[in-house]
Amino acid sequence: MSDPIDPRREFLRDALLGLTAEAKTLPGKYLWDETGSDLFDQICHNPDYYPTRQEMALLPRVAAELAARVRPGVTVVEFGSGASRKIRTLLDALPEPAAYVAIDISGAYLEDAIRRLAPDYPDIAMVPVCADYTKPVQLPVAAGPGGILGFYPGTSIGNFAPPEAALFLERVRATLGPSLFLVGADATVEPERLQRAYGGADGLMAAFHRNILVRLNRELGADFDIDNFRHVIELYPDPQRVEAHLVALRPATYRLGDQAIAFAAGERIRTDTSHKYAPSVFQSLASQSGWRPRTLWQAEEGDFNLHLLESTGG
Ligand SMILES: C[S@@+](CC[C@H](N)C(=O)[O-])C[C@H]1O[C@@H](n2cnc3c(N)ncnc32)[C@H](O)[C@@H]1O
Repeated sequence: MSDPIDPRREFLRDALLGLTAEAKTLPGKYLWDETGSDLFDQICHNPDYYPTRQEMALLPRVAAELAARVRPGVTVVEFGSGASRKIRTLLDALPEPAAYVAIDISGAYLEDAIRRLAPDYPDIAMVPVCADYTKPVQLPVAAGPGGILGFYPGTSIGNFAPPEAALFLERVRATLGPSLFLVGADATVEPERLQRAYGGADGLMAAFHRNILVRLNRELGADFDIDNFRHVIELYPDPQRVEAHLVALRPATYRLGDQAIAFAAGERIRTDTSHKYAPSVFQSLASQSGWRPRTLWQAEEGDFNLHLLESTGG
């Protein structure tokens, strides 16, 4: 087996690849360090950020219905667990869950979130796993007597374009084996609502996206002038998505590794994409990936959906 690549080298390689491309881009997964996770948690408390509000309103009903379908002793596995807030609704409702496996790339934040959660659930084994779920992930625990329930809340599936979303769903199926999988997906396409949520008039979204440049400076020794970049969003219809960009205000050249990265005034870096998946589109991706769509719950206010998928393995 080859050695795992050093995370710093991988970050540098990915950043150079993205910033020397004709249309500059940085992989969204690098938005997430302790600062990024903390900023995102603040964003979730802003009522303009409708996905969290709608999902939190929907979850108690979903959890109650799931509780009637899941056997005691289930192992719950969350992908991108962040502050581990939504999981409380599931852990409170499910019959005697055996374990909670929280997978997240933001290691220090993950450890803190589990430290806050664990005292409230002394009978549930807490298993934090710092890993990148865009790569194969192996569960460090066996399925509980009640099997496995995967959980991927929020709009994170939207960070994948359709072909990558299908690949991700396939990888999750390989990680979980026979299981149920509860996945959030947002289908909102209303421009004003998207602008309010992703444009972030309070400046938190801008800070969240500019943090990726702060990381390049601190972790890779780059010399980006953070104030030279403004955060903007663009809405696109085909496929339906919101893109976040950092736009250079003035022409400038910055150093990253052994490369000089030149920006014209107005030139952009795409830092993230949020694809909007209508239920039928998401279900068709899930089916292509070997999952059987079982139940669809839709938020009363708006277009946020929770999908329950099932895999019998194989
Ligand atoms: C949008 S937040 C969602 C947090 C929480 N699940 C919620 O719904 O409020 C996305 C989470 O996924 C994590 N994440 C992003 N990319 C990841 C990756 N490639 N591998 C593992 N975790 C990732 C981030 O650190 C963050 O905690």
